[in-house]
Amino acid sequence: MSVLQNDRYLKALLQQPVDRTPVWMMRQAGRYLPEYRATRAIAGDFVSLMKNPELACEVTMQPLRRYPIDAAILFSDILTIPDAMGLGLYFETGEGPRFKSPIRSAADVNKIGIPDPEQELRYVMDTVRTIRKELDGKVPLIGFSGSPWTLATYMVEGGSTKTFSKIKGMMYSDPKLMHQLLDKVAESVISYLNAQIAAGAQSVMIFDTWGGVLTPRDYKDFSLNYMSKIIDGLTRENEGRKVPVTLFTKNGGQWLEMMAETGCDALGLDWTINIAEAKRRVGDKVALQGNMDPAMLYATPERIRQEVKTILADYGDSGTGHVFNLGHGITPDVTPENAGVFFESVVEYSPAFHK
Ligand code: CP3
Repeated sequence: MSVLQNDRYLKALLQQPVDRTPVWMMRQAGRYLPEYRATRAIAGDFVSLMKNPELACEVTMQPLRRYPIDAAILFSDILTIPDAMGLGLYFETGEGPRFKSPIRSAADVNKIGIPDPEQELRYVMDTVRTIRKELDGKVPLIGFSGSPWTLATYMVEGGSTKTFSKIKGMMYSDPKLMHQLLDKVAESVISYLNAQIAAGAQSVMIFDTWGGVLTPRDYKDFSLNYMSKIIDGLTRENEGRKVPVTLFTKNGGQWLEMMAETGCDALGLDWTINIAEAKRRVGDKVALQGNMDPAMLYATPERIRQEVKTILADYGDSGTGHVFNLGHGITPDVTPENAGVFFESVVEYSPAFHK
């Protein structure tokens, strides 16, 4: 493996000194880039794109060719695990993800197995290996998974939901069954993330997109508890380096202290919490990633620059422990120019905070 030429992302996650704040963007490879849409058209659709290691590698590299980005993220999706469990992932245009065979009963839960990452999910591991080769040590590669709660949400609802009626119905009426499902998913996530690390992912992130819809008590029992188990089961060192783990619960601002206790290295923040307050609350227990409102990218370049400065100043000049990002994924109708303003502003303004 080639030496890593830019390691400020990994260093910041471990709260080691860096020359400037590292930056990447959730969904940095995506529909806002015309070259992404062109590659997706070659693949045919999103699922075919993600299952093709060469094309998935190509779209992973696309934003890195345009912008000064400090990390690449595996191009894939969190729904690969339920797909590998046999639920049949597909996308309905304009409707988001869907499953042909959702989980609705104890029999459904009993039926699903733990996928072997080098078998059913081989295409993801091949993509990781292909990207690492292509990156050639330029920047580190981030691997990822959904949290068990978030994956279970899609598996039980059968797709996106506004009400969470089916998953919450199951959780409240049959908590034992819910826990059985979450246990299986958590075990799958551990082996999936460890396989990504073995294949070359240099850091991993757990996306808990739907933890924030739970009551505090249920968040602890049904989401955080399983993320904690995953962190306990992960390979934390590979190729002679630590493999930092970032935990992101969207709308999880009220639970940061609890999240920081899991043993993760960093917390991802959405934009509904001030990063200065988050830092006060977690101290030096974990690094922080975030947290510009993705909708700021619809503003003028001047306004974007001002917001980047404000967030950098809010985090302060304690040197390290901050990875700049959006608070959630970039939306498809943002212009590539405005995305560029975001990256370039971090590069321009952040060295002043690392004297
Ligand atoms: O960040 C990156 O660039 C890496 C790739 C990535 C994708 N999905 C690609 C994708 C990552 C990290 C994800 C994670 C993911 N997927 C999450 C967690 C993060 C979050 O957004 O909260 C969730 C909940 C999903 C499930 C999912 N996949 C949804 C709800 C959708 C449809 C939403 C939409 O934007 O249309 C997807 C599809 C998807 N995953 C796309 C991309 C680039 C768009 C598909 C397309 O090209 O048409």
